[in-house]
Amino acid sequence: MTVKIQASQVMRYFGSTDNRVHAVGELNLEINDGEFVCIVGPSGCGKSTFLRMVADLIRPSEGEVRINSSKTRPASMVFQDYSIYPWKRVIDNARFGLDIAGVPKKEGNERALKYLAKLGLADRSRSYPATLSGGMKQRVAIARALAVEPEILLMDEPFAAVDAQLREILQEELLALWQADQRTVLFITHSLDEAILLADRVLVMSARPGRIIADITVPFARPRDPSVRSTAEFARLEGELRELLRHEVNSHLASIEEK
Ligand SMILES: Nc1ncnc2c1ncn2[C@@H]1O[C@H](COP(=O)(O)OP(=O)(O)O)[C@@H](O)[C@H]1O
Ligand SMILES: [Mg+2]
Repeated sequence: MTVKIQASQVMRYFGSTDNRVHAVGELNLEINDGEFVCIVGPSGCGKSTFLRMVADLIRPSEGEVRINSSKTRPASMVFQDYSIYPWKRVIDNARFGLDIAGVPKKEGNERALKYLAKLGLADRSRSYPATLSGGMKQRVAIARALAVEPEILLMDEPFAAVDAQLREILQEELLALWQADQRTVLFITHSLDEAILLADRVLVMSARPGRIIADITVPFARPRDPSVRSTAEFARLEGELRELLRHEVNSHLASIEEK
């Protein structure tokens, strides 16, 4: 198995030396090619910061994040809050990454449309985002990330802002999309249920500064059926993760009270 993402002794600080926030680290992990990995952890523990380092949007202060790829931009990112442009039509939003990559517009439109269709948005390609529901906007953001056919898909709480029913639909769509081409996915979520349903492995991060404190293999077969949610094993895993997180949140609260 090829290692796709490797973080070695990664540390990340923010601010000046006398007013320094230690956001991440020391963080070590390896993610294999084609693996779907979810990261869970208390808020403010450095999850988004770590993802931004993997995306090469920011640098580690110490250590390194290595991506095994020959491409200059092997990863694309989906953010929590429908980061699409309101003044661009759906198709132009979905094509955005391809425009940046210099793909000719005709080919770009075909590819963008292909992914919009996979996400059930082909008939909205000429619409403006203001006319779409929250879930549809997030699908546009996902189509935009997929259209560049990235080796690595980075998702930062992508379904956090949509309601529970729609969230389940989006999770199932993502499972099907992943099953079709099995790219490497690194997915951050607050929802333990979501993490267990989607991932091959769930990594638990400590309270800030974020480190990996548990690495839990999810045993359910692929293609994965959402009905695994009602199994005893699912409940057991969810309980195990909840305990780990509760401990981290409590130690975080205790450290605030000391100050
Ligand atoms: N650009 C920044 N400047 C200063 N502090 C930051 C910056 N980005 C994140 N932080 C701090 O780093 C810590 C981790 O933030 P973040 O990675 O967003 O956490 P999470 O995504 O787990 O909620 C927080 O204390 C946050 O305030
Ligand atoms: Mg975050």
